[in-house]
This record gives sequence, C-alpha cells and structure tokens, in this order.
Amino acid sequence: MQKKIALITGVTGQDGAYLSELLLSKGYIVHGIKRRASLFNTDRIDHIYQDPHMENRSFILHYGDLTDSMNITRIIQEVQPDEIYNLGAMSHVRVSFETPEYTANADGIGTLRILEAIRLLGLINKTRFYQASTSELYGLVQEIPQTEKTPFYPRSPYGVAKLYSYWITVNYREAYGLHASNGILFNHESPVRGETFVTRKVTRALSRIALGLQEKLFIGNLSGQRDWGHAKDFVRAMYLMLQQDEPDDYVIATGITTTIREFIRLAAAEIGLELTFRGKGTDEKGFITEIDEKKFAEKAGEKYLYRQIENIKNKKAIIEVDSRYFRPTEVELLLGDPSKAKSHLDWRPEYTLPAMIEEMMDSDIKLMQKEKLLSEGGYKTLNFYE
Ligand code: NAP
Ligand code: GDD
Repeated sequence: MQKKIALITGVTGQDGAYLSELLLSKGYIVHGIKRRASLFNTDRIDHIYQDPHMENRSFILHYGDLTDSMNITRIIQEVQPDEIYNLGAMSHVRVSFETPEYTANADGIGTLRILEAIRLLGLINKTRFYQASTSELYGLVQEIPQTEKTPFYPRSPYGVAKLYSYWITVNYREAYGLHASNGILFNHESPVRGETFVTRKVTRALSRIALGLQEKLFIGNLSGQRDWGHAKDFVRAMYLMLQQDEPDDYVIATGITTTIREFIRLAAAEIGLELTFRGKGTDEKGFITEIDEKKFAEKAGEKYLYRQIENIKNKKAIIEVDSRYFRPTEVELLLGDPSKAKSHLDWRPEYTLPAMIEEMMDSDIKLMQKEKLLSEGGYKTLNFYE
C-alpha cells in the first residue's frame, strides 16, 4: 500500500514536532514547511531530522512562509499531499497586539493561500485540510463551558485573524466540498512549549529559582483561567479529524479550568515548595511558606535547599506581578466541553494536569542543571525574564 503523504506548516513549532512524530509512527511520509532563520531553529525536530542525502526519506523539510502565496502553491504542487495540517502562525496573543498586520497576514490570509492553492491545483478531492483554530475565538466568553455552538467574541488581533481562518475553512468546505476541518483547540502545553507562554515561563523560572540561577519570577494576570491539556494528546485529535468520512469542527479541551496562580502553586509543589500568595492586584506577591525537604532534595538537589530556607526566613517574595505582561483586552476564562470529540472521534486526553506539570518541571530542572554546571564552571549564563 502506498504511504500517505502529509504536509505540515509550522513544523518547527510545539505541535508541528509532536504531530510529525505521530504521523511518522503511523507510516506517513511527512513534509514540513520551515521558515528561513539566521540561526538553526529546528531544536524540536532535530531528533527526527533526516539528512537530504539519505535515500527514501520519510521526513522532508521545505523552506517556506505562509505570507508567500507562490511558495505555498509550489510546495503543495510538488508534494501532492493527502493531508495538510495548517499549524503555522504567529501564535503569541500578547505579541499580536504589537504586530497586528503581520498576524492578520500569516494567521488569517495564510490559511486562504493554502485553501486557494488546493483549489487551483485541482486537489479538492484528494487533499484533506486541518485548520489550527483556537479557544481564543471565544475571547469574552458568551457561555460556560464553550462548545462548538458557542458564539465567538475574539479579544486580540490574533483571535480576530484566527476567526477569518475558521470561517474561510468552513466556506471552502461548503462551497467546494473540500474535506476541511477546524480543531478548536484549548491551551496545550509540554516540555517543548515556547518559553514565553505562561506555563513554560513558570516551569523554567521556578527551576532556575530552585537552583539559585534567578531570584524572582515576574508575571502578569494571575487570575486568568485556562483549560490546559498536553500537546501530545491534542495532536492526536488533529489526526483523528482528518480520518473521518466527513469533515467537521471540534472543540478539543480537557473540561477542567485552572487559574495561573494555581498553576504556579502546583508547579512549585512539584519540587517541594509550598507557595502562598499575599496582596491584591499589582501588589500581589508569592512567598515560599513551607518546604518538603525530601522532595526538594530529590527533585532539585539538597545543596540548593539553604537558599529556599533563607527565602522563608527573610520573607522574600519569589513571584511579583508586572503589568507589562497584561494585555489591552484579556481573555479571563476558558473552559471547553469536548463531548463532541469524545463521542464522534473517540478522543480522550491521557494526561492529567499534574502529570503534565511533573513532566514539564522534570524537564526544565534538567535543562537548568546544565546551565548551573556552566555557571559553576565559570561560563557566563544569561537570565531571561521572558
Ligand atoms: P508555536 O510553537 O508558536 O509554532 C508556530 C509555528 O508556526 C512555528 O513553526 C513557526 O515557525 C511557524 N510560523 C510562524 N509564522 C509563520 C509564517 N509566517 N509562515 C510559516 N510558518 C510560520 O505554536 P504551537 O503551540 O505549536 O501551535 C500550533 C498552531 O496551533 C498555531 O497555529 C497556534 O496558533 C494554534 N493553537 C495553539 C494552541 C496552543 O495552546 N498551543 C491552542 C490553539 C491553537 P518558527 O519556528 O520559525 O517561529
Ligand atoms: N504569556 C504570558 N506571560 N501570559 C501570562 C503571564 C506572562 O507573564 N502572566 C499571566 N499570563 C496569563 C495571560 O494573560 C493569559 O491569561 C494566560 O496567562 C495564558 O497566556 P499564554 O500562555 O500566553 O497563552 P494564551 O492563552 O494567551 O494563548 C495560547 O493559547 C491559545 C488557545 O487558547 C496560545 O498558544 C495561542 O496560540 C492559543 O491559540
């Protein structure tokens, strides 16, 4: 039997990497579009990279950009994919307020470029299309929990650009009969989550604080609530959508929502630190109030314990609010109802939030232990207040 061919935009991103792994494990030939960058930016896919000199490669990268129609059309023509997963995007909500035009171009019109290429190349009956839609579409939520039927109310240039992509995907399905589906995915994280999204920012910073590489974490809105799942579970849902006889739109979520404050507490508890928050608004601060010394020693190392004992003695805050991380319009609460995905796709998340946090903390502690070795060896290491 001939191998299925998939094309993934955003292959260097968190989801692109997990989806590539999944499709390769299912015997696909995977093509990915990567942007040209002045430095290597393939960290997340280096473990599956195949040298171009190798024969019969199953993982092939192409230079490209969603803002370049000719490039997108040529790649689709060359690859003749059975499935396209459009994961490429300027995906940071806060940054989209600073780059609204670019965000509209890449995250909105970029989707149209792919859909129109499929149509012009006569691939409507061959190629199936997945659009990375988002819970940011719900923005100022009109209903709790959010389902496929909840009205959209985006609150950022990112959300508005993604709204265009959502509807243009529906339109190509209805107008031309394209097998095109929207996955309305709620937040999903992992050890390879971008460093400036809140979960990874927290797990990195707490790991650095534990090892004495950093003193404080500066954070934005602590009261925001997110329905966090694991990227590995969520890319499985993308794949399942394109295996259905009929295209459709699905909410993918865990059905549990958690505040940013609670996420920080859970991540700290993972290395034996009990955190207490005191104060209100921009004066709110997080303090270590107890230490499970055995757990801390096991996870971070006994020799770093004294710093945290000092922090308790000196009542020193390790978390502070900085309003620079606030958004002009915030999405305060996201909570998805994944019933349709459960019944139609037989999709269920395997990870719980605590299991995901454990994986992320273990991974970042390991990463920061390398930094610590460098700094103890006299090499300069940098502090990133992301
Ligand atoms: P990510 O880690 O930020 O990855 C985004 C990918 O898009 C990267 O490979 C990036 O390339 C690429 N990209 C950015 N601009 C591009 C352009 N102009 N042309 C081509 N590629 C471009 O995002 P993610 O978390 O994997 O998310 C994947 C998709 O799902 C995104 O569309 C995101 O908006 C959407 N989404 C994510 C979540 C979530 O919680 N993770 C939830 C709902 C929807 P570089 O590596 O060169 O930057
Ligand atoms: N990034 C960040 N940095 N967010 C912070 C911070 C901070 O220092 N402090 C508080 N937050 C709050 C944000 O205000 C928001 O309420 C929440 O943490 C989550 O922020 P992000 O992790 O940046 O994710 P997001 O929810 O804005 O967007 C992500 O999820 C969307 C799906 O709902 C991205 O992955 C989007 O691409 C995705 O569509």
